[in-house]
Amino acid sequence: MAQLIDGKQISAQVLADVARDVEILKAYNGVIPALAVILVGEDPASQVYVRNKIKRAAEVGIISIEHRLEAGTSQITLNTLIEELNQDSSVHGILVQLPLPDHLSEEEIISSINPKKDVDGFHPLNVGALASGRSVQVPCTPQGCMIMLQQIHKDLSGKFAVVIGRSNIVGKPMAALLLLANCTVTIAHSRTRDIENLCRQADIVIAAVGRAKMVKANWIKPGATVIDVGINAVDEDGKRKLCGDVDFEAVELIAGAITPVPGGVGPMTIACLLLNTLNAAKRLTA
Ligand code: GUN
Repeated sequence: MAQLIDGKQISAQVLADVARDVEILKAYNGVIPALAVILVGEDPASQVYVRNKIKRAAEVGIISIEHRLEAGTSQITLNTLIEELNQDSSVHGILVQLPLPDHLSEEEIISSINPKKDVDGFHPLNVGALASGRSVQVPCTPQGCMIMLQQIHKDLSGKFAVVIGRSNIVGKPMAALLLLANCTVTIAHSRTRDIENLCRQADIVIAAVGRAKMVKANWIKPGATVIDVGINAVDEDGKRKLCGDVDFEAVELIAGAITPVPGGVGPMTIACLLLNTLNAAKRLTA
């Protein structure tokens, strides 16, 4: 039976460290880290994520300023808001919750954020820095996955990692971080041939595709570490439940260590967002 990687417990430790450092920053520099969170439209999942981010921010003493804009908001209005937040020295982090409504260009909006305030690490300058081995503002979900992996593997060097999913938010930065940690990395995606066999070679499997229970027990090498980034809402016995991209009940019998959904990657993402906000505040006010 696999060891459960408890994201709630590990994130509580990260959050405790952030809370302590927020206090120190306040006491010595009179600075309180502040995060602006922009949510455009009514996407139900995004509303839940944003609510959780704001709640946790308050718990560690970080100020959050929520900007809720209607779904029809224009690109110019959003760019103007971001420019104001870029100029505002009391704001240290800016997060635009994705996905945005179709009429808005995510690329243009992300590029308009001051890279130093880009706590998601999505700005092209930060993407490029990570790709060339300088990890300053690192995307929150992959960063959270790395912290969990480091709890299981003291040294990741030489491990074979398969990342399933090639999104800009998770798959690609995840692969970059694993490479920085000296793993051998393959990114698998919807066009990958014989994905089962490929995964079966892996010491580490990161599932980030958004397809409920896609990763089966016979895809996993006995003893491998499995990180499940998926959060899928499914109907089971007439009830709505959250489940990951991994067939958890079957895979936990084969894997050496596995993250649950919920209670795995999710809480780590939020903890890393607040860690990034703290670090942005430190750098901007040093
Ligand atoms: N949507 C899904 N994940 C994320 C994330 O990490 N950051 C932002 N801004 N939007 C998201």
